[in-house]
Amino acid sequence: MQTDVLIIGSGIAGLAFAIKLATHKPEASITLVTKADQFESNTKYAQGGIAAVMDNVYSSFESHITDTLKAGKGFSNVQTVRMVVEKAPERLQELIAWGTPFDRTADGNWDFGLEGGHSVARILHHKDQTGLALEKALLQQLKRFDNIQFETEIFATELLMHNKRCHGARFLDKQDQAISIRATITYLATGGSGQVFSKTTNPLIATGDGLAMASRAGAKIEHMGFYQFHPTALLTENNPVFLITEALRGFGAHLINHKGARFVMKQHPKGELATRDVISEAIFKELEENAQENVWLDCRHLNKQKLQTHFPNIIAQCKNQGIDVFTEPIPVTPAAHYQCGGIKVNLEGKTSLEGLYANGECASTGLHGANRLASNSLLEAVVFAHEAALSVADELNQPNPFSVFAESKKDFHLNASTPLLKINHLKTSLRHLMYRFYLNKSLELPLVSIGAEIETLFAEIKKLSLYQRPSKPLFELQNMAETAKLIIHDTLYE
Ligand code: FAD
Ligand code: SIN
Repeated sequence: MQTDVLIIGSGIAGLAFAIKLATHKPEASITLVTKADQFESNTKYAQGGIAAVMDNVYSSFESHITDTLKAGKGFSNVQTVRMVVEKAPERLQELIAWGTPFDRTADGNWDFGLEGGHSVARILHHKDQTGLALEKALLQQLKRFDNIQFETEIFATELLMHNKRCHGARFLDKQDQAISIRATITYLATGGSGQVFSKTTNPLIATGDGLAMASRAGAKIEHMGFYQFHPTALLTENNPVFLITEALRGFGAHLINHKGARFVMKQHPKGELATRDVISEAIFKELEENAQENVWLDCRHLNKQKLQTHFPNIIAQCKNQGIDVFTEPIPVTPAAHYQCGGIKVNLEGKTSLEGLYANGECASTGLHGANRLASNSLLEAVVFAHEAALSVADELNQPNPFSVFAESKKDFHLNASTPLLKINHLKTSLRHLMYRFYLNKSLELPLVSIGAEIETLFAEIKKLSLYQRPSKPLFELQNMAETAKLIIHDTLYE
């Protein structure tokens, strides 16, 4: 199969880019694929919202830039930060025009939310399910374009590389048959990798596939050691764990310890509204010192009616777990949430490989530095979708660099496939080791022995990958191991 542009991933980064490109270049053939159903993505679960300066009275470009740079601890790219913040209002107006129902107050103004690290309330949201509202609006828009072909349950396995240029990708289709899609431009929007850790807010699809594929193809990867943990995930054994939005702390909820005392102020004067790296570390310390499993998020002092209006899904999900947020505090613990680093891209979303773009959580644009400011991720994806669409439209106007080459075929029929039970066992071991690795790093405890255990596990996974018939679960396991390696290497040596 051949297409002008191949987009892998149907979260906000993939969908926004598809819409933008189809608008700019109606004659281009665009193929959009996802490994799951059309909705499943990190985007679908986004709660707090999308940060932007939509009101020059309280917020300003300069304050949004300063907050983003402070959160990033000196590792952000100032040019990227300025571009994203200044282009945000225009992109937000587009999302509104495309039908995203951001909430307004009774007097018709935007109902801005507040989250950690923001000096003012500047977050547009749809109750506590902003991501679902965005996915619905974007998927609806997609239907307007007949030059976009959208395929679900197609799993990308490798980039097709020839003469250092990307020419599309290989996939396993719905029947696990290997297929190739050749493309002039390939755009990775495959999201994050939270599944590498045993506690995560990320859905099962977040296994670092695009990142690992790009890494294997030789693309530059950066800042993978900067993995962000969200301080308040609901304490359950579920995978993923349900997120309790930071907007709830912006709304006035308090973090308390097992004695019922607030404790974050000890670590930072902003208390519950410090950035999430600070709060997660404060919680890890509190748990370690008192040998506890969780802390608590207390909403009992908040206005019941307003709480119900703003956070209906959180209240319902807690109720499902037997927790009445109006009368009892919510047990919470930090969980892996966001991959700040990723495939390095320039201001147009181009990677270091010709013909390959990346956007969204799999990419590293320079916006987040060492720690992402809350609600800057959805924003980054829409701003870069626009920039990349202009650049790709331009590239498609150049002479077509498509070249004829024979693909190296892998024999998928030699060996039996690995039993799913074995793959799941290895996934679980890796996830637990990576969580311990992160915890030890946060508490400044030794990492060497965990490093050795992880190396042994990597060797076992590699052996399977060499001698067993590939399957989607095995590819995911390989990709998770590859991502874990990049995280460990960046943490220890960069
Ligand atoms: P995703 O939305 O994750 O989409 C990835 C897509 O790639 C999916 O369609 C997936 O199926 C597909 N894919 C992956 N691998 C393959 C493969 N091998 N082959 C084919 N397809 C593949 N950010 C904010 O700014 N504000 C928030 O309020 C917010 N809340 C959040 C709440 C939760 C619970 C979570 C988990 C994240 C939250 N984030 C938030 C972060 C934000 O949602 C994500 O960073 C963002 O949605 C990532 O978008 P994306 O398009 O890059 O990736
Ligand atoms: C949240 O709602 O707490 C998540 C916001 C984000 O990840 O930016």
